Amino acid sequence: MIGRNYLFFSVALGAIGWLSLCSFGQSVAPTPKSTVTTPTTRPELTPEQKRSNELYVAFYKRRRQGFSTHSPSDNASRLLAKVSSGEVTLDNRDQRSLTKSLLAALDVPVSSQLLVYSGTASQGTKVNPKNPRALYFNDEVYVGVVPGGLVEMIGVDANIGGVPYTFRQVGTGSVPSTTGGEDCIRCHSGAQSGFAQGFFGRSLVPTEDGFIQGGEAVGTEGHNRPLGRRFGGWFVTSARPDVFGKAGLVAETEGTNRRRVTGYKMTRPGQLYDAKLHLAESSDILAHLLHEHQIGFHNRVARVLMSADDDGCQEGVRLSPTHAQDITNLVAYMLFQDEATLPAEGIVGDPKFAEDFSRNRRPAKSGAALKDLDLHTRLLKHRCTYMIYTRPWMEMPAKVKGEIYAKLRSALMGKDYIGSHLSDSEKREIVQILSDTVPDLPADWKSS
Ligand code: HEC
Repeated sequence: MIGRNYLFFSVALGAIGWLSLCSFGQSVAPTPKSTVTTPTTRPELTPEQKRSNELYVAFYKRRRQGFSTHSPSDNASRLLAKVSSGEVTLDNRDQRSLTKSLLAALDVPVSSQLLVYSGTASQGTKVNPKNPRALYFNDEVYVGVVPGGLVEMIGVDANIGGVPYTFRQVGTGSVPSTTGGEDCIRCHSGAQSGFAQGFFGRSLVPTEDGFIQGGEAVGTEGHNRPLGRRFGGWFVTSARPDVFGKAGLVAETEGTNRRRVTGYKMTRPGQLYDAKLHLAESSDILAHLLHEHQIGFHNRVARVLMSADDDGCQEGVRLSPTHAQDITNLVAYMLFQDEATLPAEGIVGDPKFAEDFSRNRRPAKSGAALKDLDLHTRLLKHRCTYMIYTRPWMEMPAKVKGEIYAKLRSALMGKDYIGSHLSDSEKREIVQILSDTVPDLPADWKSS
C-alpha cells in the first residue's frame, strides 16, 4: 500500500518536472534555508498538465497491477524455490554464515563487496560510518547485508526488472524465511528507474552517527554520472591512493546541532569499526564502477519494459518519454555514449575482483570479449555492455528485444547519432563480437 501511494505521489511530481526534488530515506534533514531556496508552493498546473498527470498515474498503476500477478523468474526467486524444496541449504547459524552460504549459492564473489555508510536505505537507522552496510553482486543478482540487521537481495526478472526479498530469522539456525517487496518498491521503483522496479544508489555524506544532510538529485544512476558526484557515504578502496569523489567523507557538525555542518573529515575502511565486521575489507573502485554501470543498465531496461505497453497513450496525450525514446536511451547507454571520464591516470582495481568478474567472459573467434577492461580512458575496451549475455536479457519478451536489437543495429551499422562516439573500426569489432557470441541475434546482423 505504501508503495502505491508513493508511486502516485512520485508520478504526479514527475509529470510536472519535480522529480529532482523527491527525497527518499527516513533521516533526510531539511536543507538549511541560507544555502538553498526550497520552493514551498508548487506551480499551478494547466488543465492539460492535470489531464496528462492523471493519465500517467493511471498508466503506471495499471502496469504495476499487471506486474503484481506475474510470478518472477529471477536468480533470487529461483534460489528461494530451491531452498524451500530442500535442494539447497543455507547455513543460518549466524549472519556471517548465512551471507557466505547465500553468496556461494548465488555465485556472487566476495570480492565484489561495496561498503556504504550513509543510512539511505530501508535499514537506514542501523547504517552509519561505524556500521557500514555491505553489498555484493554479480551480473544478475545483488545482496545487501547490514551488520546486526537484515540480509536482503534483489534478483532481476526479464519482464518486470528488480525483485526484492528480505531474509527474516537471521542467525536462528532454522531455514530463513523471506518476505517480498511491497515496502521495498517505494524506493526501488522511483524516478531513477522511471518508476519501473529497479535499483537505487545515492551520494550523500552523513555525520559520524549516520545523520544525512539534505538531499541530492535522484535519477542519475549509471556510468554517465560524473565521478565527482558519486561515492558520498561510500568507501572506495583502490591500489592507488586516489580520492574518488566524496568517498570516505564524514560531515562534522557544530556541537549538538547536527544540521550545521562545519566541515568534513576523511575516514578509512576499518577506522571507526572492526574491519572483521564484513566478509572482506575492500570496497573496490572497479567493483564500484561496474556496479554503477549495471544498476544504470537494469533501470533503463526496466523502464523500456514498463513503457512497452502503449495503452498509456490515450486521447492524444503521449507518455513522455515515449517507448521509442526509452529504447534510444537504453541503446546509447549500452554503447557507453556519454560515459563519465575516468581520472587521467586511469583506474587500478582489485585483481581478485577483476578475475572473478572475467570468469564468465565470452570470447569471440578473435579472442576479444565484451568483458575486456580498458581502465585507462574508459571502463570497457569494446564499448558495448556484457549485460547482453545475462539471463534477464535472454528471457526478455521477444517483441521488446527485437526493437532494442533493431536500434542497436542502426547505431552500429547505420548513420545514427547514437553510436557516433565510436570509430568505424570499434563498431565493426563490436558487431563481430556480438555475431560470434550472442545466440539470439537477429539474422540480419550475421549477413551484414
Ligand atoms: C528508503 C528507501 C529504500 C527502501 C524502502 C528500500 N531500499 Fe534497498 N536500497 C536503497 C538504497 C538508497 C540503496 C543503495 C545502497 C544504500 O544506500 O544502502 C539500496 C540498495 C539495496 C540493495 C543492494 C542493491 C545494489 O545495488 O547492490 C538491496 C539488495 C536492497 N536495497 C534491497 C531492499 C529490500 C529487500 C527492501 C525492502 C525490504 C529495500 N531494499 C527497501 C533504498 C531503499
